[in-house]
Amino acid sequence: MSAHEALLELKGLQLSITDQRTRRVVPILHDVTLEAHQGEVVAIVGESGSGKSMTTRSIMRLLPNGARTSGSIRFQGRELLTQSAKDQASFRASSVGMIYQDPRAHINSLWTVGDFLVEGVVSSGAMSRRDARARAVRQLGEVGIADGERRMLQYPYQLSGGLLQRVMIVAALMTDPDLIIADEATTALDVTVQADVMRVLRGLRDSRGVALLFITHDLDLASSVADTIVVMYAGRVVERGSARNVYESPTHPYTAALLRSRPNPTSRERLESIPGRPISAAEATTGCAFADRCQFAVDVCRTEVPPVRKVFESDVACHRAEEVHAQLGGAR
Ligand SMILES: Nc1ncnc2c1ncn2[C@@H]1O[C@H](COP(=O)(O)OP(=O)(O)OP(=O)(O)O)[C@@H](O)[C@H]1O
Ligand code: SF4
Ligand SMILES: [Mg+2]
Repeated sequence: MSAHEALLELKGLQLSITDQRTRRVVPILHDVTLEAHQGEVVAIVGESGSGKSMTTRSIMRLLPNGARTSGSIRFQGRELLTQSAKDQASFRASSVGMIYQDPRAHINSLWTVGDFLVEGVVSSGAMSRRDARARAVRQLGEVGIADGERRMLQYPYQLSGGLLQRVMIVAALMTDPDLIIADEATTALDVTVQADVMRVLRGLRDSRGVALLFITHDLDLASSVADTIVVMYAGRVVERGSARNVYESPTHPYTAALLRSRPNPTSRERLESIPGRPISAAEATTGCAFADRCQFAVDVCRTEVPPVRKVFESDVACHRAEEVHAQLGGAR
């Protein structure tokens, strides 16, 4: 892999799932293209059902029965979609660390923090127990848990949500991965704890040069942490660009609508809600999936899916991107 090559590269990823009961093929992702470089934070943003988690599960090759993928997912230049099950397992075990929204759901309540951090790497043969313990304590320090030796003996119920999420981060780091995927990892935390965890994640990017794929529905949070923002709607990428461009001068009507619908940080009231409800890829009919909610929609939007194309600095899927950008730019 050359220095400029992406660490992770998704190209035209398609995902569908055949319902095991009805045999109906349900489309989930269409033509998802994105990349992450070493040391880059990429945020994937979108409302519920837009396909954020399914994108990460496609990367992890942890998909439900009946899932079919096509396109390409390359990691360090290697194609993941055609890897053997054994290589996929080894990719999951050593190259990528996953952090989920609810740490309590992913940690055995009967295990101590030490068991949780150490057992996996010891049983996979990656490290001796002694080395794994030393590493876990050192890494607990790295994420701001100074009394690691004591914490290793505690059970999950003895730790706050914020501390437990840091333990999850340490677990994700045990094999020194090149990529960390955080799926709504801070959503359940209150605002100050969320900021602490974000600082930890950013620190890891700076100190270790890991790439971070950060999944959130919160565009403000995405803009505060990410280098690149990928906005998804109904299983497609609708806008992708530098965090600054996407946040400060959005080009897709959906991105602009997400920005307008942010809650006011002090009152938590939403300034404006997006009309209608989000739809999934399965519900989308012909044309642009956002058309029913879009103030800019014209006839062609209902008949032709807008291709992703470069508009100014970002990649955007909208027939009217130039006009939208000009109008929104004027408004902002
Ligand atoms: N096991 C499954 N079988 C069939 N469809 C599924 C399955 N899991 C998820 N889906 C569908 O895939 C689509 C994308 O779901 P996904 O979980 O990726 O959304 P998301 O963007 O992560 O949403 P959220 O913000 O709620 O986590 C949704 O329409 C969802 O209903
Ligand atoms: S393609 Fe049409 S409906 Fe879709 S976002 Fe652009 S203007 Fe709106
Ligand atoms: Mg999700």
